[in-house]
Amino acid sequence: DVFSTSEALSRHVAKIVAAIIRERQAQKATAVLGLPTGSTPMGVYRELVRMHQDEGLDLSNVVTFNLDEYYGLKPDQLQSYHRTMHEVFFQHVNIPSENIHIPDGTIPLDQVDAYCDDYENKIREAGGIDLMLLGIGSNGHIGFNEPFSIRNSRMRLCTLDPITRRSAASDFFQEDNVPHQAITMGIGTILEARKILLLALGQGKSSIICETLQGPITNRVPATILQEHRDTSVFIDTAAASKL
Ligand code: GLP
Repeated sequence: DVFSTSEALSRHVAKIVAAIIRERQAQKATAVLGLPTGSTPMGVYRELVRMHQDEGLDLSNVVTFNLDEYYGLKPDQLQSYHRTMHEVFFQHVNIPSENIHIPDGTIPLDQVDAYCDDYENKIREAGGIDLMLLGIGSNGHIGFNEPFSIRNSRMRLCTLDPITRRSAASDFFQEDNVPHQAITMGIGTILEARKILLLALGQGKSSIICETLQGPITNRVPATILQEHRDTSVFIDTAAASKL
């Protein structure tokens, strides 16, 4: 679906998220959400906060798993996804704090593998992800699965692509400050979500959106692997759609 403004896109996506939350509530079940960061999904989070505050949307049955986190950042550091998620979303809604999972960027190196296995187990114990929201990097990464990540990859510590570090430079004031590594759900982890919504905004994403939707499936562009998923929808604005 193509939207003329980012606000319209955010409202539409937030409605889909809310519908799943309500549907699961009616079944007296949890709604398990996989959540991204980056600038793209922020409008969706703001709209969900608004629906909670103005329309009484109840999120008490929601369980969340964030996709990724920079490695080496403390949770309260300015650029950490942990901090962003709390400031923009979690602080303002009624998701029980024990239901919120965000990868911890401070896990010692020798414990990372066990930590990632444990995170994946928690996803499984929660019943798997009902709905996964995704952004896309300008090099086609999803989460921090950079080009040439393998299709069956699981949650792990990975090395950031130079393009990704350059894109993040402004958040960190200069490129040298951008971490070199991150913890991310794998492509295999992402593909297990029952429903996926891929979001992209702006002209800067137009080429990669064209490759993702119309190009061959290749791990050079990790997002193309979503073509193999049976319930993935794409929500973009007119600018991001301009090369289709
Ligand atoms: C980061 C995140 C991705 C996100 C991407 C795009 O690299 N790890 O999950 O999709 O940025 O960010 P933006 O939405 O700001 O373009």
